[in-house]
Amino acid sequence: MYQTELFESPSIVGDRAVVNVASVPQRSPFRYAGGKTWLIPCIREWLNARGGKGKELIEPFAGGGIVSLTAACENLVDRITMVEKDEGVAAVWQVILNGEAEWLADEIVSFQLTPESARAAIARADESLECRAFATIIKNRVNRGGILADGASFIKNGENGKGITSRWYPETLKRRILDIAQVRHKIKFIEGDAFEVCAQNAERKDVVYFIDPPYVKAGGRLYRYSAIDHEALFVLASRLQGNFLMTYDNDDEVQELANRHGFDIDLIAMKNTHHAKKTELLIGQDLGWLKIRSPC
Ligand SMILES: C[S@@+](CC[C@H](N)C(=O)[O-])C[C@H]1O[C@@H](n2cnc3c(N)ncnc32)[C@H](O)[C@@H]1O
Repeated sequence: MYQTELFESPSIVGDRAVVNVASVPQRSPFRYAGGKTWLIPCIREWLNARGGKGKELIEPFAGGGIVSLTAACENLVDRITMVEKDEGVAAVWQVILNGEAEWLADEIVSFQLTPESARAAIARADESLECRAFATIIKNRVNRGGILADGASFIKNGENGKGITSRWYPETLKRRILDIAQVRHKIKFIEGDAFEVCAQNAERKDVVYFIDPPYVKAGGRLYRYSAIDHEALFVLASRLQGNFLMTYDNDDEVQELANRHGFDIDLIAMKNTHHAKKTELLIGQDLGWLKIRSPC
């Protein structure tokens, strides 16, 4: 069975009926703050309507990459480009997608996780790309909320007082990593800047973009790279010839930007494993495909 994790198993609630996101396979090796597993039913609907044959999906703020992985595994598009700026997250994707998935999976299952071994693995991050990837996986599992931003601290008590091992599922991670390796021929990864890659592809009509930037409000606490020019992102989105779907925290300034550029906006409510409700924005050139007004 797939594990359920904070950030990864909310339900979509509100005016719309609750969507059974338990049916969404957890394919990412990360537990990612702001991860979009909960949105996958909508993503499938969007890609079926606006993606499909002949299209490339670009995910410029890839993070845990659940949208790209789902698109690859479920054949929702022809090919995929993931872009991520965080060096640690990028190292994990590079190692998995460049042919070292088995090595990483073996390192994970043979690792004896203790606070000391975790600290030692994290301290070796700068020794090589492989060390950085491994250190990132460890941090993501032992840090509170999976947060990778500098200064994030270890889980203290964790589930059932299990401390830092409470999110350590080596066999699950191994399986996810090896499953991703099976579809790696469809995925290109770029360690780089979302803006640059979108601008380079702006004229292409055979591309669709899933754009999930750091939150306007909480981003700084969650990611190493969280400061982006939101206004510039909207200007860039308005130049894209391909279709895009953007998600944002429900913020007045963001709504104003979307209105100014003539984009469609819809609200989607979600509830995390702690039953805290929150509302996010979906933004696109046209959201006519969005049937989850009566849900996905
Ligand atoms: C909201 S998270 C994406 C979460 C992802 N959709 C998921 O489901 O896991 C935003 C990501 O953008 C990355 N990021 C921030 N600035 C960036 C930039 N200029 N270019 C590329 N990635 C960037 C952050 O490191 C973070 O991983």
